[in-house]
Parts: sequence; C-alpha cells; structure tokens
Amino acid sequence: MEYQSLLFAQENGIVTLTINREKALNALNKYVFADLRTFFSEDYKKVDGLRGVIITGAGEKAFAAGADIKEFASLDKEKASALSRNGHEVFFLIERFHVPVIAAVNGFALGGGCELTMACHMRIAGAKARFGQPEVNLGIIPGYGGTQRLVDLIGKGKALELLLTADMIKADEAYRLGLANHVVEQGQEVAKAKEILEKIATKAPIAIAKTIECVNAHFDKIVDGYEYEINAFGETADTEDFKEGAAAFVEKRAADFKGK
Ligand code: CAA
Repeated sequence: MEYQSLLFAQENGIVTLTINREKALNALNKYVFADLRTFFSEDYKKVDGLRGVIITGAGEKAFAAGADIKEFASLDKEKASALSRNGHEVFFLIERFHVPVIAAVNGFALGGGCELTMACHMRIAGAKARFGQPEVNLGIIPGYGGTQRLVDLIGKGKALELLLTADMIKADEAYRLGLANHVVEQGQEVAKAKEILEKIATKAPIAIAKTIECVNAHFDKIVDGYEYEINAFGETADTEDFKEGAAAFVEKRAADFKGK
C-alpha cells in the first residue's frame, strides 16, 4: 500500500506504519491524518490475516512532535474545531480497531503525537522517548483527545499537572505513571511491540476484538461497560474458537484458532 506520509510494511499479519516526515519531526499534518484514516477505515481489509498494527516515527528523534503547527496559521474558530473533529474521528478509528495497535515511541511524542500514542492500545517507549502536552505554550489546548485520554491513563491530578505545566517527561517517568507499558533500549521499540503482538496473535481473534470493545466501553459515558461485557461474553461463547479453545485445554494441546 502506498501513502503520502506513511511507510507501510507487513510481516506475518503484523503491519508497521511509520510516520514519514522526519525533517518536520513527524508532525501530524493533514496528509498523515488522511493516510491513517485510509488505513484504519479501508486498507486494513486488504491485509491477509491482520493480527496487529505498530505505529512509529521515521528517524531517531521523534515519534511525532505534535500537530503540524505550520498548518495552524490560517485557522479560525470554525476551521480549528473541524481540524480537531477530524483528529478525533481518526484516533477513534485507532482506539476502536478490532486488532491491537501499539505505539512504538522512538523519540518526542508531544501534543498530537502524545495524543496519537494514547489512542493506541499500548505504548512502548524507547529510552529516549519524551512525552508531553505542550499546547498551552502555544495558547491552545490539546485537540486530539489529550484532555480525556491522559486522565484515563494516568489519573486527574497528574494529567492536570502535565497539561497545565506543559512539562515534558522522560520514558522512565511515563512508565512510572502508567503512560508507557514498557521502556526498552533505544531502537528496540518496534521489536518489543512485535513480541507482544505475536503473543496476542496466538489467542482467539474474536475474543481479542471483544476484549478491546469491552475495555473501551468502560470509558464510554453512554454505554454500561458491565452490560457490554455480559453481551460480549455471550458472543465469544458462541464461537467455534471457544469450542476449539476449551477442547484444546482438555486435550492438553495448543489451540488452533480460526477467528470464527
Ligand atoms: N509542527 C511543525 N513543525 C515542527 C513541529 C510541529 N509540531 N515540531 C518540530 N517541527 C519542525 C521545526 O519547525 C523544524 O523545522 P525547520 O528545520 O524547517 O525549522 C524541525 O521540525 C526540527 O525542529 P527543531 O529545530 O525545533 O528541533 P529541536 O531539537 O530544537 O526541538 C522540539 C525539538 C522540542 C520537539 C521542538 O521542535 C518543539 O518544541 N516542537 C513543537 C512541539 C509542540 O509544541 N507540539 C504541540 C503542537 S500543537 C498540537 O499538537 C495541538 C493538538 O493537540 C491538536
């Protein structure tokens, strides 16, 4: 698959999308958003046996240093809200994706870049990763879900501190706060993400998709997550994979899941 601002690679059902704007520290411009939307709404269907997605940034310095500030010059209230809404839509596609999406954070993840990592299901930080929401330095606020997902991930008090001070935190601090799932040697972020996705790929695909849905339901203010889980549990129990998983346990062998 060919994109304007993303590099696409796939191996054994695991897709790696690399934001490819190294000179601009992989700032998220409209083309990056268009490419992400195309992959997560349409193109993923073309990948045989898709079991996981990794998002990372080109080069050694940045995952993504934020929304592209150079696109902000012509913004008025209406255009800014439209830009924000577009970002929300794309990040919801990622957060609600049916297979796990992991951010391999190889450097700066600031503003919209940090927000993109938070829309992913997990974050692997390289030792040089830096996270932050510096928008108040520019006189704006996070526009791609940062005021919501940061609270969900690290709690209100710490989230407010980061959002209000615009402080940048290192990988170890992100791990301590629960923002990063793992910290790895610089350059090993994608490898660690692959290791996790390969483990998940041995599990039943429908159960994985339903687990993501149920966890997302917890944060949905309209949906009752407990009810959602009750229904989803019923649905997973009604699959061939459940019969296979239970049979494999009894027969003391590895399950051969088909995603049915
Ligand atoms: N948008 C556009 N271009 C950016 C950018 C961004 N967010 N971040 C970096 N760049 C560009 C720089 O303009 C520079 O380009 P030129 O060489 O053409 O001048 C190039 O990337 C390298 O950047 P620096 O020279 O600044 O690199 P540095 O090592 O001195 O500093 C940095 C690195 C601390 C990350 C610094 O670049 C920085 O502070 N960037 C902006 C971070 C930021 O404020 N992000 C939030 C954006 S707003 C947002 O995201 C809102 C939202 O939620 C919707």
